[in-house]
Amino acid sequence: MRDDGRDHGRDVPGDRAAQLAGAMAHWPRLARAAGLSPEGWRAEIVTRRDEPARRRIVLSLIRDDGTGDALVLKHMTRPADPALVAAEIAAQRRAREATGGQAPLILAEDAGAGLILMEQVPGRTVEHWLDDARSPAAMRAILTRAARWLSDFHAGTSNGLRPYNPAKVCEHLARQRQAVAEGRRRVRAPDRFVALSLRVEAEAAHWQGRPALSAARHGDMNLRNILMDEDRAWGIDFAGPQTAPAGHDVARLMLAYALAYVPAGAAPAGRLLPAAEEAAFFTGYRAADAADGAIGFLMLNQLVADWARLGQAGAPPGLWRDQRMEALMRLAGRVFPDLW
Ligand SMILES: Nc1ncnc2c1ncn2[C@@H]1O[C@H](COP(=O)(O)OP(=O)(O)O)[C@@H](O)[C@H]1O
Ligand SMILES: [Mg+2]
Repeated sequence: MRDDGRDHGRDVPGDRAAQLAGAMAHWPRLARAAGLSPEGWRAEIVTRRDEPARRRIVLSLIRDDGTGDALVLKHMTRPADPALVAAEIAAQRRAREATGGQAPLILAEDAGAGLILMEQVPGRTVEHWLDDARSPAAMRAILTRAARWLSDFHAGTSNGLRPYNPAKVCEHLARQRQAVAEGRRRVRAPDRFVALSLRVEAEAAHWQGRPALSAARHGDMNLRNILMDEDRAWGIDFAGPQTAPAGHDVARLMLAYALAYVPAGAAPAGRLLPAAEEAAFFTGYRAADAADGAIGFLMLNQLVADWARLGQAGAPPGLWRDQRMEALMRLAGRVFPDLW
């Protein structure tokens, strides 16, 4: 599921009790499918969303007997699309196999009803780790570990190097600009958005044909979809098992970090991250490097992608989103100093 906003630690609109009951109604059946007794577990809401376009709840189920056994039940009811849930399940299984267990084990599922029951891993999100970090060096060490998870995932699912072809992304950019021009798609500061999109597209020729790693795509590589404990990491919330240039996930993770944790104006022209942060990233990310055609181009494209996502109609407004948008505009102006 797309996860555009920070939602931990606060409640969201909607009927909490009804959503909890809706998920728990399936629990006895799923528990039995996993070979467990449904009795003697305590349910807690980890996070939920209840919006017109997106409704899902993530529950933690903890066994009462003190064994420490804990499960996660994820119930996705909007969009009600069994294919999306099946894709998430298939991708998570594939990731687990490809990385020697760096994704939670799925114990039972019902894609038709939007349900996944899995082990609860003893990790906190990368975002939590970063929020608690006490120094820039500690933050870079966390970035290195997050990048290492992504590297293991891409290396484990690698399809090798392909000449990068930016045509599809460029077509998407053109269609998106058209939609903005015709008012079918709302973005913040549309004139600047269009200028940025054209500027990014102009870079495509430079990266065209350069070798690019092709691998499974996580599809929603934000700082809340990697969990870590002191020495292990797990990926969650996969969008699907499709293969794509690895640069998509790399760019998304880099920009998520840049917007939330890098002071405005710290990155040199042409880069999303300051040199020390980029080095920390590639210390962990070994599957490819900054010369990869897709990473080089999609890093730039991600500025447009996040701009469109942060400004999309129906997204909940709020200070968090406004701050990210401001950081994004400032960063875009640093990456392309000639732009505005
Ligand atoms: N298997 C798991 N073990 C531990 N925590 C989990 C697990 N799955 C999800 N979580 C927690 O729930 C949050 C939301 O789960 P996620 O699958 O990312 O759903 P969403 O679609 O809401 O982003 C995660 O950021 C994480 O904190
Ligand atoms: Mg998520």
